[in-house]
Amino acid sequence: MVATTSSTGEGWSSRTAFILAAVGAAVGLGNIWRFPTLAGESGGGAFVIVYIACVFLLGLPLVLSEIFIGRVGQTDAIGSIRRVAAQSQASPGWSVFGAVGALAAFLIVAFYSVVAGWVLYYVGVMGSDLAQAIMAGDPFRGALAGESREQIQQRLGDMFANPGLLLAVHFLFMGLTLYIVARGVSSGIEKAATYLMPVFFVLLVGLVIYGAIEGDIGDAAAFLFTPDWSKLTPEVMNSALGQALFSLSLGVAGLITYGSYIKEGSALGPTAAIIAIADTCVALLAGLMIFPIVFAVGLDPAAGPTLVFQTLPFAFQTMPGGALFGLLFFLLILVAAVTSSISLLEVPTAYGIGERGWSRPKSALIFGGGAFLIGIACLLGYNVWSDVRPLGFWDLFADTDILDTVDGFTGKVMLPVGALLTSIFIGWKADTNLLRTTTGLSPLAFGIWRFLLAWLCPLAVAIILVTGLFPAIL
Ligand code: PHE
Repeated sequence: MVATTSSTGEGWSSRTAFILAAVGAAVGLGNIWRFPTLAGESGGGAFVIVYIACVFLLGLPLVLSEIFIGRVGQTDAIGSIRRVAAQSQASPGWSVFGAVGALAAFLIVAFYSVVAGWVLYYVGVMGSDLAQAIMAGDPFRGALAGESREQIQQRLGDMFANPGLLLAVHFLFMGLTLYIVARGVSSGIEKAATYLMPVFFVLLVGLVIYGAIEGDIGDAAAFLFTPDWSKLTPEVMNSALGQALFSLSLGVAGLITYGSYIKEGSALGPTAAIIAIADTCVALLAGLMIFPIVFAVGLDPAAGPTLVFQTLPFAFQTMPGGALFGLLFFLLILVAAVTSSISLLEVPTAYGIGERGWSRPKSALIFGGGAFLIGIACLLGYNVWSDVRPLGFWDLFADTDILDTVDGFTGKVMLPVGALLTSIFIGWKADTNLLRTTTGLSPLAFGIWRFLLAWLCPLAVAIILVTGLFPAIL
């Protein structure tokens, strides 16, 4: 099918709807689980400052580039890149980065749904705990009363050892994602974002205030914002760059796809800035929500990926109202995960509609179903297939289980490749007039944007890619 108009004729009903959906896509597990984990492991302030620099010098120009491609293309990522290439006398072969992106999005949603399933399980655990607290006439007690620290930590291990449970929560989460995407852009994705994002912000602000009152916000702020430059190793810079790409959903063509549903108006520059600023603020607020609680009870900020699942539930045990706020905390993560997973599934779904001519429900079902199956392999990697190493022949992934292999390969290889090709394409190949008129940037902003894309982004992203793949050279 030759896409001469938007492949589906679908679109956002307003600029606000687009911004909410795009912020919803950006804000996800990356902000509330991955950012605090990395900041905690990397010593706080220095990481945070490098991360913020990466977001604004590399991420923001790429956000604008992806939205631009979608806005001009008005169809799925591959078709949209082809159209920009045609209008710029560039080779249609550039559309390959749309294909890399769609494949990456498909793989990411597979394991994203598994991790979101864990969150769903914890919503259940905290929900039943709160119900017990209410029944016992003490709704403001701490979470999981009477359980020892070991028992609380053991929950995660017990969950991992239970494939049926993991499968059930993965199924529920993927089913919800698929349902929303199958309903379409305005009655599915946009509706979910316009209902869920306000809920998300209310929960976030409420939890930050709770952390500030009950926890140790001074220590948390000092940890997050006082740079200790001696902690700034090449690995830390590398992970800050990678985190900026992941958190802004770059390199997977997600913003190309969402941008293609923008029907009119320009002001793409301010829109891109709002997305980058909102995403960064949410990451920082997530840090200011989690670390006061961690410090208040004297826990280790460098606990790693289990910070959210093992450290925090224990912290909520010792805090007043912990049962209630613990539940709200996991609900917050769940809401953030839904609005991101729909953006991931939308990329391959739009490809099926635009390039293959499938109906939306069929395309969503094929890709959502496929990702569900890959997710099953990921979750079995925690129990029955725990010694499977899919890329075991490659040093980098020699000791990496299935889920972490899919995560690592997409994050370390596919996202940077997508971002690298996007920056070269927009920085060097795309038609200058088309860029200027579509984005409506002032001459100064335009010059800076193009410079960053042509020089800084390719160099920096190439460095992430090479150092990520060959850590030995560091
Ligand atoms: N940005 C999302 C998050 O922070 C994850 C994501 C990555 C979503 C890539 C879409 C594409 O959780």
